[in-house]
Amino acid sequence: MAELKTSYMGIELKNPLIVGASKLTADMDLLKKLEEEGAAAVVTASLFEEQISTETERLEDSFLDLGGMHQTELNLSSQVDLSIPEEHLKWVQKARESLSIPVIASLNATKEEIWVDWAKRLESTGIDGLELNFYSVPLRFDRTSSDLEDDEVRIIRKVKESVNIPVSVKLSPFYTNPLNVMVKMDRAGADAFILFNRFFQPDIDIYNRSSRYTFDLSTPLENRLPMRFTALLHGRLKGDICCSTGIHSGKDVIKMILAGASCVQMVSSLYLHSISWLGSVLKEIDEWMENTGFEDLGSVRGIMDRNQSTDLYAYERAQYVKILLDSGKSIGDYPLF
Ligand SMILES: Cc1cc2nc3c(=O)[nH]c(=O)nc-3n(C[C@H](O)[C@H](O)[C@H](O)COP(=O)(O)O)c2cc1C
Repeated sequence: MAELKTSYMGIELKNPLIVGASKLTADMDLLKKLEEEGAAAVVTASLFEEQISTETERLEDSFLDLGGMHQTELNLSSQVDLSIPEEHLKWVQKARESLSIPVIASLNATKEEIWVDWAKRLESTGIDGLELNFYSVPLRFDRTSSDLEDDEVRIIRKVKESVNIPVSVKLSPFYTNPLNVMVKMDRAGADAFILFNRFFQPDIDIYNRSSRYTFDLSTPLENRLPMRFTALLHGRLKGDICCSTGIHSGKDVIKMILAGASCVQMVSSLYLHSISWLGSVLKEIDEWMENTGFEDLGSVRGIMDRNQSTDLYAYERAQYVKILLDSGKSIGDYPLF
């Protein structure tokens, strides 16, 4: 058996598979099953500022102004759990006490004071690390990308000043220059970067003229984006890189490590194949290591990053041009008429 140990923001992991924040990590029985099936760590489902604000406003107002959604609709949403925030804390503490693998909690807020206050409260549950879920949708026209990025960098700095556990940031890919943003976040003290979050986008029902909230899982094709940015960033940050989105198989995990990731987060593939899929993924990684002669993940990490890849242009603009110019050769495979 090859050595699959890795280190993630100062936490030792027995292998590179973390189960990402989701409904899978919002249920104690499932958490135990994830541990049994080989998960090296789990990120508990996010605590959202809407839950915290709801608690404050609960007695005053039964109709919440959350982007026009009524409270009952929010209850049905897979993204927002309206359980009481104090209960969330107790639940995270119970998860920490019940599992022997590292437990990372996730927080999603907008106001600086809520980020800091609830980061401290989550730390008090005994968790091993904290993930800041920087999910936000730009709605204002008067704020520039720099304004928004500066806010996020300031929040990282403030949270880092307020807690003693490692702090990671889960990011969207929608920055004009993710490389520059991550270097600034790295300097502000982020211990790790999760590339990238995957957002549910609302759909429109054209017959009822109503919004639809669909539950779509990722596909492996989507992991090219985190892989590319991992390859560009590896060696340029103090913080570790954890790839997320579209990582479904052992082969996908190996690609991310070759690009420079320390570990990965998986969610959709476990919904598709069941939790025992984790064992198959680990087996595939182990077999690849045996067949290629790599003894540990450390000797695999980053050997296909931007600097070490034998194809100098793999991650740059030139490959885009090359793919478009070469596409004529393979496009003939598609029947157009
Ligand atoms: C049902 C469901 C619930 C999720 N809840 C959260 C959450 O609470 N916080 C979060 O940061 N991401 C959440 N996510 C996003 C996942 O953690 C992950 O980033 C995303 O699904 C991409 O990874 P995948 O391709 O392995 O699914 C959720 C995803 C799903 C499918």
